Amino acid sequence: MIIAIDGPAGSGKSTVAKLVAKKLNYRYIDTGAMYRSVAWVAQKNGLNLADEIAMAKIAENLKIEFIPNANGQTVLVDGENATTDLKNEVVGKGAATVAAQESVRELLVARQRQIGETGNVVMDGRDIGTVVFPQSDKKFFFVADAEERGRRRYEELKSKNPELDLKIIIEEIRQRDYEDCNRKISPLVKAEDALEVDTTRLSIEEVTDQVLKNINNPT
Ligand code: DC
Repeated sequence: MIIAIDGPAGSGKSTVAKLVAKKLNYRYIDTGAMYRSVAWVAQKNGLNLADEIAMAKIAENLKIEFIPNANGQTVLVDGENATTDLKNEVVGKGAATVAAQESVRELLVARQRQIGETGNVVMDGRDIGTVVFPQSDKKFFFVADAEERGRRRYEELKSKNPELDLKIIIEEIRQRDYEDCNRKISPLVKAEDALEVDTTRLSIEEVTDQVLKNINNPT
């Protein structure tokens, strides 16, 4: 069983995907963390993220491990705990750059398919239901207003950075949407057979329930 959850930044997909995976006792695979890992390694090594050949080399050699824990999961990149660093906005911006590179996508999509073939996974991203696993058993597409998504991101990050400006965060969310939806390869788009869930006014629990209900009792 493969459950695909796609949607824009801040739509709640990773939080819900984690909870759904826990409930079903499936593996949760955060494909955004894979693109973020490539950017993180490149930035740490002072490489130019526009250098597609160098980025593909990182994607090819990257060792990435998802280890479930009580709060979700730990992400090990080449054996190093990168969980907190990967959430960083600078890494997120870098991830959008490398995610637009064809060779990086090819390499990471191949890995995602390999993982999915082992079965019983909840995978979240931008192109899971359209490109990675168009034959997924269940597809969801989360959406939410940009203001609400910005507010969620702000709440998540403000404890680490009290200087944060909500208006700037919302602007960044809009910019990320633009990049994700307008890139040439695998742009963010809803699969025809995906169930759209607008999470703007729903709690995490409500969205999780809706997803689980649909998996158990498809209509
Ligand atoms: O979901 P996220 O913010 O962690 O994703 C980081 C970047 O990677 C974002 O710009 C979208 C991109 N991405 C993608 O293109 N395809 C995926 N399957 C997952 C993420």
